[in-house]
Amino acid sequence: MKNNTADKIVWAKKDLLGLEYLSREEIEVILYTAQSFKEVTTRQIKKVPALRGKTVVNLFYEPSTRTRASFELAAKRLSADVINIEVEASSVKKGETLIDTGRNIEALKIDIIVVRHNCSGAPNILARSVKSSVVNAGDGWHEHPTQALLDMFTLKSKLGHIEGLRVSIIGDIAHSRVARSNIWGMTKLVAEVTVCAPPMLIPEGIEKMGVKVTSDLDEALKNTDAINVLRMQFERDTQKAFPTKLEYFKQYGITDQRLKKCKKDIVVMHPGPINRGIEMSSDVADGANSVILEQVTNGIAVRMAVLYLVAHAKREIVA
Ligand code: CP
Repeated sequence: MKNNTADKIVWAKKDLLGLEYLSREEIEVILYTAQSFKEVTTRQIKKVPALRGKTVVNLFYEPSTRTRASFELAAKRLSADVINIEVEASSVKKGETLIDTGRNIEALKIDIIVVRHNCSGAPNILARSVKSSVVNAGDGWHEHPTQALLDMFTLKSKLGHIEGLRVSIIGDIAHSRVARSNIWGMTKLVAEVTVCAPPMLIPEGIEKMGVKVTSDLDEALKNTDAINVLRMQFERDTQKAFPTKLEYFKQYGITDQRLKKCKKDIVVMHPGPINRGIEMSSDVADGANSVILEQVTNGIAVRMAVLYLVAHAKREIVA
C-alpha cells in the first residue's frame, strides 16, 4: 500500500469529524498509516508505545459493539489509557449538556474524545468546544468516517486499489451515515459509486454527491467489483418505506442466486450488525465473497491510525 503522497506529510487536523472534510491525500495518509499498524496487530506482542501517556475517552450516546470495542482496543494497542463513559449511568441522565460533559472530560486532562451520538453534527459541536481531539464514531445520519475508512482499507487490501473500482452501496441510504461517509471517501479516491435502494430510501439530491442512483438491484449488481450492503435501520422507522421485511428481502436481499450473476470475485461488505434474511442471506454473509469479519479486524488498525494522527496533529509524519 505504498503511496508517494503519504510518504511525508504534515497531518494538521486535531479532529476527525467526517470524510467530507478530508482531502484525497489525507484519506490516503490514514490508509497508509493503518497499513503499518496492521502489521503491529499481527505481531505476538500487539502493542506499540505511540500513545503512551495519552488518555482516550469513549463517549457513546448510542449502542455499539464493533466501533466501541475496536476504538478501545486500538487505544490500548497504542499504549494509551482508556476510559469508557457509560452514558446511561452518567450525569447526562441528570441533564448535563454535551458541551458541559466534554469540558468536564477535558478538565480530567483527556487527549482524545471518541464520540458517538444520535444527533447529526454533535461531534462538530464538541470539537469547537474543547481543545482535546474529537473523533466521530458515528453521528445521526451524518457520517461514520472510521467505518468508511475501514471499508476502503479492506477493499484496497482485497483488490489492490480503489481508483476505478465500481462499488454499489445497497439498502437504507436515507438513514445511513455509513453510506454518506463511503460516498465522500470512495468518490474522493475516484471509485465509481452507485447507490441502490427502494425509492423512499433514496435521499433527494444524492446524485449531487457524484453517485449513480438506481432502485433496480440487478442494475446495481451488474459488473460491480464490490457491494456494501447496509443495515435496515428499523429503529429509525425504516419499515414505513417498505410493506414487509419479506418483500424487502425478495426485492433487495443479497442471495447466493443473485451473487452467481455477479463478477466471480465480487467483494461483499456489510458494516454490521447484519439483519440476516433481510439485507442478505446467511449463505452470502458467511460465504466466500464476504469480507465482513475482515472489515471488523481491519477496524483496529484503521482506528489506531486515526488516534495516532490526531494525537500528533501538526507534527511531521515521516513514513
Ligand atoms: N458498524 C458499526 O458501527 O457497528 P456498531 O454499531 O456495532 O459499532
